[in-house]
Amino acid sequence: ISREKISDLLQSTTFDREVTVMGWVRTFRNNQFIALNDGSCMGNLQVVVDFNNTDDAILKRINTGAAIKATGQLVESLGKGQTVEVKATSVEILGDSDPEKFPLQPKKHSLEFLREIAHLRFRTNTFNAVFKLRHALAFAIHQFFNERGFVYMHTPIITASDAEGAGEMFKVTTLDLDNPPKTENGAINYAEDFFGRATNLTVSGQLEGELAAMAFGQIYTFGPTFRAENSNTTRHLAEFWMMEPEIAFADLEDNMNLAEDMLKFVIKYALENCKEELEFLNNRLLEEEKQKPQQERSELSLIEKLNFCLSNDFERITYTEAINILKASKPNQKKQFKYLIDSWGADLQSEHERYLVEKHFKKPVILTDYPKDIKSFYMRLNDDGKTVAAMDILFPGIGEIVGGSQREERLDILKERMVEMHVPQDELSWYLDTRRFGSAPHAGFGLGFERLVLFVSGMTNIRDVIAFPRFPKSAEF
Ligand code: 4AD
Ligand code: MG
Repeated sequence: ISREKISDLLQSTTFDREVTVMGWVRTFRNNQFIALNDGSCMGNLQVVVDFNNTDDAILKRINTGAAIKATGQLVESLGKGQTVEVKATSVEILGDSDPEKFPLQPKKHSLEFLREIAHLRFRTNTFNAVFKLRHALAFAIHQFFNERGFVYMHTPIITASDAEGAGEMFKVTTLDLDNPPKTENGAINYAEDFFGRATNLTVSGQLEGELAAMAFGQIYTFGPTFRAENSNTTRHLAEFWMMEPEIAFADLEDNMNLAEDMLKFVIKYALENCKEELEFLNNRLLEEEKQKPQQERSELSLIEKLNFCLSNDFERITYTEAINILKASKPNQKKQFKYLIDSWGADLQSEHERYLVEKHFKKPVILTDYPKDIKSFYMRLNDDGKTVAAMDILFPGIGEIVGGSQREERLDILKERMVEMHVPQDELSWYLDTRRFGSAPHAGFGLGFERLVLFVSGMTNIRDVIAFPRFPKSAEF
């Protein structure tokens, strides 16, 4: 099928030639002007229908949402709001759309409403912009790592281990759970299951990534991960995409440098390659900000915020320094935090992370050296015996966007930590082999891809940056 893309036609400088376009009708005014969108850009092409010479039956079917094919002369437009238009000589209906039933109307719909019709929301400019940006950011991640010689590893989706040791896994089974085979002591007998053992969806590709890094030197994974945690927030999904690099012969500082370089690279890529989308999202956000009271409005626009991120070093502080800042902070002193910081060792809540990033430092912060008890078993124990070489990167408006660490490469200490944290060693014998045979310092991190898209798009709910969000009580599509 031969057609021209609307994005090309809107840029066209050669006129008075015949073109054929196909797309979906956004609006049809005065029985004459179609605003046609084919998804190639957010802009619509004006198609002018010669209603005197078009069947009434056809005119009636040019409704919002219908797919049409139009052929005619591409001309410079004299009308306001567009530079080119097509004077149609023929209009063909490819697929009807009943105006009584089509849920998208030519008006601004709320994001909440659009979330309920996630299968149709792609056809709005907001979601056109968001998902093109998502595409570009994924592409930029691959480019960044490819240029640095990292190997892209596909780690398994179905696993028998719990990479984070947090017990937040979705089980995978083919057993008839209404009538499962039982062991002698009455437990479900997973020996009879498909894999001959209990399996689950992966929570992270890190452990397999470490195996590969200990052979290739530097690798990254980028795939779906699953967490059966309470994900009823604007920052959590039960199914999300994570990008996890792992580097051999590297320490925490190398890890921080890699993460900061990578984040700056992909943000810069978006600014350079998604100008139209970012301008649209920037304006969308400005409109939303206008609805808020003055003191709640953000000081920077979306694009200013992204540029600010590029031109400033991320603040790097330890957990202990952060606790001291938080203890002395106004909201802590005045008991405005929901969780008051009174002792070393507490896990930071998002209100604390946001205070550090948005109020105290006013820029991205890398927090390091957390207490060992609140972090995963694989993180390298520091010489103080109390903290581990962990790093979380906190972003304004988002909170934690990256979590990572230098890994515990010493077999004896790793085993002790596994005992302490009740992580079964027999299940992870393959993992321990990396420490048994040619162990070496190594480090890595995980970037929550949707949180990155959230930050760069300026959207406020993570459910609006993944096509079909999975969260408790919702897996409709
Ligand atoms: O901090 P997390 O749990 O770290 C890991 O999984 C490590 N294995 C990563 C590594 O070192 N290779 O998760 C990493 C990131 C978080 O910083 C956050 O951005 C994102 O993944 N994330 C989620 N994003 C959306 N929904 C959820 N439920 C998420 N849980 C974590
Ligand atoms: Mg984390």
